[in-house]
Amino acid sequence: MEKLVINGNRKLQGEISVHGAKNSVLPILASTLLIKGVSIIHNVPDLTDVDASIRILEYLGAKVKRENDTLIVDANEITENTIPEEMMREMRSSIIFLGSLLSRTKEAYICYPGGCDIGVRPIDLHLSSLRKLGAVIYENGNCLCCKSTSFHGAKIILTFPSVGATENIMIAAAVSKGKTTIINAAREPEISDLASFLNSCGAKIFGAGEGTIEIEGVESLYPCAHSIIPDRVVAATYMSAAAISADELLIKNVRTQHLSPIMPVFMEMGCKLSGDKNNLKIVSPKRLKRVKMIKTMPYPGFPTDCQSIVMAALTKSNGTTIINESIFESRFKHISELNRFGADISVNDRIAIINGVKNLYGANVYCTDLRGGASMVIAALAAEGKSTIGDIYHINRGYEKIEENLAQIGADIKRVNDEKTAKESKGCEIEVEGAVQQL
Ligand code: UD1
Repeated sequence: MEKLVINGNRKLQGEISVHGAKNSVLPILASTLLIKGVSIIHNVPDLTDVDASIRILEYLGAKVKRENDTLIVDANEITENTIPEEMMREMRSSIIFLGSLLSRTKEAYICYPGGCDIGVRPIDLHLSSLRKLGAVIYENGNCLCCKSTSFHGAKIILTFPSVGATENIMIAAAVSKGKTTIINAAREPEISDLASFLNSCGAKIFGAGEGTIEIEGVESLYPCAHSIIPDRVVAATYMSAAAISADELLIKNVRTQHLSPIMPVFMEMGCKLSGDKNNLKIVSPKRLKRVKMIKTMPYPGFPTDCQSIVMAALTKSNGTTIINESIFESRFKHISELNRFGADISVNDRIAIINGVKNLYGANVYCTDLRGGASMVIAALAAEGKSTIGDIYHINRGYEKIEENLAQIGADIKRVNDEKTAKESKGCEIEVEGAVQQL
């Protein structure tokens, strides 16, 4: 099993670049199923969730080729309409294939998706919305049997601005008869990126990034080339790493505007932020200040994906911060691991109380989920001594070569393979035995 080994308390400095957004590329890859042709997607990060999406596309009959950070998806022929359970369970985003597969094949068989264990994560909004667009969906235990001769326009009022449900509706309604209106749509930047990809393929989607999205269905889409936006959660991870253990860090290839919901929190911590629309410089104070209150909210509120990441930085702040997690009911699993570093965090239902401490100390911890894992990396970077972080398959889902990127700015971090180490030491014993036999 792979682990990260970090010798902490090193000053980080220099420049670091942010890769393409996981949460953008996954729905865009799913939506390539709508297009009979070859889609070219640039700035695609090398992540296990992207690999999982590629496996689904290939299973369904698409041909996918990677050239550096570009994916070439040929969806001219789609031969399957069932996604196997093991593929569905690999990630939450597999549910976004429902709208596109159903639009393309008119019949789809899938089961419930997997993803990080951060709450119940129902898919009722996805299913009720697709039903409004004309899909007939039977739920049979864990399986969903879905049919739709063709999607038609509808007015859909979301009871919560779900990111995934908004994406599924946009994809399904893009090729449909008539006009669809989504009221209380999610406004995350990844929604706008999906709309921008689909519109470049001939879709007519208006208002993405706002609370009401209008989609005029078209007959078909044509292929295009598109570049994925930078990952704002990866940028936030580097900001937190900088806040807790850097003097000054330049984070390149960001969309500064997408970071506006988190920037006030870093400023309240005492960090100085400057830069332009694609670069962000962060200068951190000697000791971070506490933040009065953080509440996770749909965009443009403070993102739930940044909750654990910013919490890690606050563990070493001067005072007490309250964090209210309002999106996912079980997104505090990383806290018991952060406390192993000497952090002082307590939880009461959806409220976390972080009492800043002066020092963190090296610890052996295990990732609980993707962003929780990232919070442990941040704590380990700022801890005195050596830390090991296990179960990093969670981190591999959303961070490309995290150890190489952080090493570039001065972190002492290595990825080690326990099995390899064990085998190597076993090999030594055999050699010794052989040598003894030869003697
Ligand atoms: C997406 C992001 C995830 C982020 C989340 C919230 C991707 C791949 N993942 O996840 O990183 O943390 O947005 O910003 O883009 N809900 C329902 N019924 C539904 C759907 C959602 O009740 O049918 C609830 C969820 O349980 C949760 C809330 O709505 O409490 C937000 O979920 P949603 O916005 O759908 O998140 P995801 O699309 O799963």
